[in-house]
Amino acid sequence: MITQELSKGYLDVKIDPTIDIFAEIKKLKREKNAILLAHYYQDGDIQDVADFIGDSLGLAQKAAATDASLIVFAGVHFMAETAKILNPDKKVVLPDLNAGCSLADSCPAAPFEAFRKQHPDHIVISYINCTAEIKALSDIICTSSNAEQIVASLPKDQKIIFAPDKNLGRYIAKKTGRDMLLWDGSCMVHEIFSLERIVKLKAQHPKAKFIAHPECETPVLELADFIGSTTALLNYTKKDSATEYIVGTETGILHQMQKESPDKTFIPAPPNNNCACNDCPHMKLNTLEKLYICLKHEQPEIILPEDLRSRAEKPIRRMLELSAQFGM
Ligand code: 13P
Ligand code: SF4
Repeated sequence: MITQELSKGYLDVKIDPTIDIFAEIKKLKREKNAILLAHYYQDGDIQDVADFIGDSLGLAQKAAATDASLIVFAGVHFMAETAKILNPDKKVVLPDLNAGCSLADSCPAAPFEAFRKQHPDHIVISYINCTAEIKALSDIICTSSNAEQIVASLPKDQKIIFAPDKNLGRYIAKKTGRDMLLWDGSCMVHEIFSLERIVKLKAQHPKAKFIAHPECETPVLELADFIGSTTALLNYTKKDSATEYIVGTETGILHQMQKESPDKTFIPAPPNNNCACNDCPHMKLNTLEKLYICLKHEQPEIILPEDLRSRAEKPIRRMLELSAQFGM
């Protein structure tokens, strides 16, 4: 007897332990004309069965372009929601609906709407790591890949609200010389890197370069040899001549870094607790088993009211248009 429980946010179905889960996922994808999109922060096993692995921008672009009938999103809720916003007529499923995001949670719609109303002469640029409600209250969406170009493309006298990540906002303000109003949000994963432990690690590995995601706090970014989105960090390690890197972002990215550069050494930057590496607890709610069940039963599904979806779509389309103009 199988049990089905969706109130938990995932379908609780027993799996036959003798099946080859990788082969079954590949078969189901073919049969259902499904595309499996995965973020770099997913488990290595999930990345290995994905049709496309990317950062938030790459995933949104892929979701906008796909002709698959079913989109299986191995990432967190705001990413799958973005895919649904871009594909109202397609079914979009997420292995575990509880896969949220501390950054998206740090920007609730009601106070953000009030904040926006206090500054009617400001344009609102929101980082894609936010809910559909926040997207619907925004003028342009950005990701860590294109935030600098989007901010720099606005007229110099244009006042800007940047939400919800204050760390990325501060970094972009410094890079562009723009004075932006920042929402006070942050990512729990990138905020807990330990400056002291990174400094010690650098001393132990004098030849290693320290690379970091712009969601990290300013003192950590000031130590970095290179700062960029997950895709930018991966590309940097492929092209750069160093052979050792301390990586200041979620540990899932190390899987692709190691695959792309098998002879190089990648060390996860340590957080300010007793752990050696820094996993996102939301991203890691998705497992290969939940992914298989989700693909097989096409649940749990992302559902959005049409009015909210269409309002949230406009600033995402604006981002996609601008990114195409920037050659991204
Ligand atoms: P990117 O995918 O833009 O690198 O952002 C990382 C992240 O925190 C996604 O949740
Ligand atoms: Fe959200 Fe941070 Fe996890 Fe990315 S790493 S999903 S920003 S909590």
